[in-house]
Amino acid sequence: DWSMAAYREQAIQAIRDQVGPEGRVICALSGGVDSSVAALLINEAIGDRLSCILVDHGLMRMGEAQQVVEMFTEHYNLDLKCIDASDEFIAALEGESDPEIKRKTIGRMFIEVFEREAKALAEQGKDAQFLAQGTLYPDVIESVSFTGGPSVTIKSHHNVGGLPERMNMQLVEPLRELFKDEVRLLGKELGLPDSFIGRHPFPGPGLAIRCPGGISREKLEILRQADAIYLDEIRKAGLYDEIWQAFAVLLPVQTVGVMGDGRTYEFVCALRAVTSVDGMTADFYHYDMNFLGNAATRIINEVRGINRVVYDVTSKPPGTIEWE
Ligand code: XMP
Repeated sequence: DWSMAAYREQAIQAIRDQVGPEGRVICALSGGVDSSVAALLINEAIGDRLSCILVDHGLMRMGEAQQVVEMFTEHYNLDLKCIDASDEFIAALEGESDPEIKRKTIGRMFIEVFEREAKALAEQGKDAQFLAQGTLYPDVIESVSFTGGPSVTIKSHHNVGGLPERMNMQLVEPLRELFKDEVRLLGKELGLPDSFIGRHPFPGPGLAIRCPGGISREKLEILRQADAIYLDEIRKAGLYDEIWQAFAVLLPVQTVGVMGDGRTYEFVCALRAVTSVDGMTADFYHYDMNFLGNAATRIINEVRGINRVVYDVTSKPPGTIEWE
């Protein structure tokens, strides 16, 4: 793509001009498309004066942290450190069932862990004056919550928005002029695989908001397994690209079932899939019932701890895409 090739060169020059010959940048890499493309651009501009940190909060999907690390270290020469902070996050969330408190706790913990890592880098002589952010043009023009009206917060969104003030850093935002589809084109230009660029959105607070009520390591593990099977079925059926977002939710409800000649009493798993243009409104996806039946059978047979599966037929509004 000619325009993206030109944009890439121009953006790299702009980063060099802003950061200068000695400046250092730190970046919170989430594995999402925006932070990934921002990091790759900055990496091309200043090489190892960029330090990336992946905070593994223990709330990612199956194998996700590892896949992100592999991609960036095997295919790119990116300075990336993955921090396993799952114990801290899970301990901080233990016993908490209020959705807003869960979201805020995760946001606060994220800043805490990131700041600590930034300090550790500074002690190694890698003191950063700049913070990279994957801010897009729509975030620049409309800084209100994209789920609610201007005066109502439906959900506290978790991103790195609180970091710059706290850390007294200048922002490097190479995607500020771009829309999402342009970021995807730029990602392609930078060599990111299509499978990565076309991934469904994933919320910052991760699986914690897909375990309504209190979370635990055990529940997260059950959810992770169910979610992986569900997405595997979606891919096998060739439906992944038709769907805006699909995921499993582990309900805090146990029901009675029968397996062989025994009684079971296990959790209910809800499956969600929606079509949408921008996440602001959404329709539930109309699956063929056979697809749902097969996915449910696989989940119940393969995941210990789930004995019933339901499908969410709520659109947005009145529902939101996530359950919390
Ligand atoms: P809701 O549930 O509000 O979600 O209909 C709309 C879209 O936003 C995603 N989402 C988030 N993304 N941080 C994010 O980066 C968050 O805290 C967050 N909460 C929801 C959600 O997955 C959907 O794509």
